[in-house]
Amino acid sequence: MKGPLGLAVVGCGTISNQYLKNLTRFPDVQVLFCADIDKDRARAQAAAYRVPGSGTVEAALDHPGVGLVVNLTTPAAHAQIAAAAVSAGKHVWNEKPLTLDVATGQLLLDQARAANVRVGCAPDTVLGAGIQSARRLIAQGGIGTPLSALTLLQGPGPEAWHPDPEFLFARGAGPLFDLGPYYLSTLAAIFGPVTRVAAVSRQARKTRTVGSGTKQGATFPVQVPTYTAALADYEAGQAAQLLFSWDSPLSRQGFIEITGTEATLAIPDPNRFDGDLRIRRAGDGDWTVIPSAGATAGRGVGVVDMARAIAEGEPHRASGDLALHVLEVMAKIDRSAVTGQFEAVTTTFGAPAPLSAEWDPHAPSA
Ligand SMILES: NC(=O)c1ccc[n+]([C@@H]2O[C@H](COP(=O)([O-])OP(=O)(O)OC[C@H]3O[C@@H](n4cnc5c(N)ncnc54)[C@H](O)[C@@H]3O)[C@@H](O)[C@H]2O)c1
Repeated sequence: MKGPLGLAVVGCGTISNQYLKNLTRFPDVQVLFCADIDKDRARAQAAAYRVPGSGTVEAALDHPGVGLVVNLTTPAAHAQIAAAAVSAGKHVWNEKPLTLDVATGQLLLDQARAANVRVGCAPDTVLGAGIQSARRLIAQGGIGTPLSALTLLQGPGPEAWHPDPEFLFARGAGPLFDLGPYYLSTLAAIFGPVTRVAAVSRQARKTRTVGSGTKQGATFPVQVPTYTAALADYEAGQAAQLLFSWDSPLSRQGFIEITGTEATLAIPDPNRFDGDLRIRRAGDGDWTVIPSAGATAGRGVGVVDMARAIAEGEPHRASGDLALHVLEVMAKIDRSAVTGQFEAVTTTFGAPAPLSAEWDPHAPSA
């Protein structure tokens, strides 16, 4: 690389801490600017992470050193900020979901292609040691022929800990759109594209109460389903059952099991970068732990992969096409719960190349 790629972080809320902690330590990128609609937040995060500039979104997009915008705004603002970045000639990394709806996401990707800039999208946990190790093991025939998957995400919901949880119960979130990307991107990395889905959904409560921060005790409306049970058919022949629920006193998350002709593989939490694999082969009385290998550096590794891919003229892994497909899968799951029909999924993506166990975002590129 000729030098680090200049970044602007737009959206300096809860998750910006994890990104800024990591992105200010990876040598192939350099955070030059923090922006937020709330300029005090942007200033505070810039000071906390020794970022040289802070201010408005417009100032971030005008910054001549910024080549890529890391868009960490709430889902309703993802499309607007990303489109503005593309119009300013910047690459963009979006937090998930890519946009609120498929048509807007497709438009963003088309605009980016026309402007010759790239779109990447969370989750980059799929690049972590846990999921990449699972991918390698399955590709080497470690479970035989992959047949099916079972995923479970259930719990009481995030309003207890998130200080601004309203957006998590609005369009673009709920357990399906907020946490579905982790599970669906993992299955996409292993099985490939989905062809059709079916689902049922529920909403146990019409309002929720903020449990922490300055708004503690405030009540707000629930605008989306908070329980979704889905079935997915994969182009390569596999089937999956998926549960996404914030209507459960019992917490059980990060559950992904892939069953093949020879074994069942339990994959670590797809919302994390680390964790070991567990395998149970036909006839085994118990699980065998398989240590995972690879990068566990945390949020922001997808941005490093993008920076390196841009420099090398290679495709980046957490691509806009993959994110658009995952968005369509979620949108069609949501729709199926209303129509009562299987819904076809038509978008697709090029399978990203697996990462080697030696891939290291902390090592500067040659
Ligand atoms: N909180 C988490 O644990 C977590 C984890 C992974 C991913 N995410 C994703 O990260 C994104 C942000 O989540 P969060 O929890 O940090 O939310 P948040 O509400 O804590 O922060 C969002 C920030 O974006 C700013 N913002 C909103 N609209 C804007 C606009 N138009 N222009 C400029 N700034 C704007 C807000 O002022 C706020 O500071 C979401 O897409 C979420 O799904 C969050």
